[in-house]
Amino acid sequence: IVVKADGLALGKGVLIPQNLQEAEAAVKSIMEDKTFGDSGNEIVVEEFLTGPEVSVLAFTDGTAIVPMVSSMDHKRAGDGDTGLNTGGMGTVAPNPCYTPEIAAACMETIFLPTLSAMRAEGCPFKGCLYFGLMLTPGGPKVIEYNCRFGDPETQVVLPLLKTDLLTVMRAVENETLGDLTVEWHDGAAACVILASGGYPGGYEKGREISIPGDLPANVTVYHAGDMRTEDGKLVTSGGRVLGVTAAGDTLEAALKDAYAAAGRIDFKGMYMRHDIGQRALRALEG
Ligand code: GLY
Repeated sequence: IVVKADGLALGKGVLIPQNLQEAEAAVKSIMEDKTFGDSGNEIVVEEFLTGPEVSVLAFTDGTAIVPMVSSMDHKRAGDGDTGLNTGGMGTVAPNPCYTPEIAAACMETIFLPTLSAMRAEGCPFKGCLYFGLMLTPGGPKVIEYNCRFGDPETQVVLPLLKTDLLTVMRAVENETLGDLTVEWHDGAAACVILASGGYPGGYEKGREISIPGDLPANVTVYHAGDMRTEDGKLVTSGGRVLGVTAAGDTLEAALKDAYAAAGRIDFKGMYMRHDIGQRALRALEG
């Protein structure tokens, strides 16, 4: 089973006990020791599912739904999917596990039914819906919904969007999304998160960050947990500090450029995962 804090816990409030004793300890940790703060005032207990995870962000105007390029998050803090859950240590897009057949099944069994259920409940949703999916042996299952873009999924999905984003947003607002063809670039994108040493536990803030001014044009550095001091220095102010994204013709090329750029950025205590995209590359090799 999975024991989850029911409130917002920045992707961290999930424990996976292996036996009854660990399950009881998980409940105590969340509800009594308040490991995840008030987000653990209530818990949910769910079936433990296995299979590759896929994030699918989708534009919707309440009736039409346009899934974006799929992506793969890397939620654990350490290489080889070890360590604590985080908000996400890196992403790649597209996700090679998400085949056209699976995409078609998700449209019929998950995306469209979600929209009609929300309309039926009197809460039609317009905007970006985030489907956190697991491709289990029994078919795709929803792990989580968010009514927002994903972080760091957005950092790899939006660079592959060919259609102007504002045009898509207007179609969402005007409920004309069904009339719009949303186009995507071929190729791939990869994002490596540069985190503060200690994250997702405690970490120091205020470390000065150095970013070279001559990063290649296909690289974008997204600022997240950082800030400018009054005297103009760029310093760390959060756990996930920067998202270094590169787009390329292939996933391999995108990863190479993202890691090359990440290696040129520095702040004291900085850490990153070194295996972002390796699972995706293995899936591509079949
Ligand atoms: N990367 C997970 C999320 O945005 O919820």
